[in-house]
Amino acid sequence: MSSTQHETQAAPAAAEGQFEPKIIAFCCNWCSYAGADLAGVSRLQMPTNFLVLRAMCSARVDPEHVLRAFAKGADGVMVLGCHPADCHYIGGNYRTRRRIALLKMLLEQYGLDPERLKLEWVSASEGAKFQSTITEFVKTIRELGPNPIVEAKKEHEAERAKYGH
Ligand code: FES
Repeated sequence: MSSTQHETQAAPAAAEGQFEPKIIAFCCNWCSYAGADLAGVSRLQMPTNFLVLRAMCSARVDPEHVLRAFAKGADGVMVLGCHPADCHYIGGNYRTRRRIALLKMLLEQYGLDPERLKLEWVSASEGAKFQSTITEFVKTIRELGPNPIVEAKKEHEAERAKYGH
């Protein structure tokens, strides 16, 4: 868990029984992670049901990392990087943009709504943008409901237990 989560002021608690999405936010080290930190130290209110994972560049986030996050039960995944032309590795975020477009198509093949994956550019000075991006994404995922892979796994395990194989 990152310090950002600890520093972030929690939004009012959700209603009892309300679905609380689990969100993974991959943030590039140079811009978005600093933006997340700024949102935290500025005590901007936002939902706290996200986990920040820092990568040196958004392009360092392998498609496998995203797919694994969904397979392990994430309800939504965000990849946040520097604005176009600001990537500290020159063209990393252009690669990320193409990769995310392909990943969204792949998610559809797996029966996951592509809206569950979001790419956004957040600079180090955009704490407020980080806050609004997270808030909006949590709202979107809340509307989409739980990750259907998790539900399917639970059903499969219940069947196995019932029939003993
Ligand atoms: S270093 Fe931020 S996207 Fe590449």
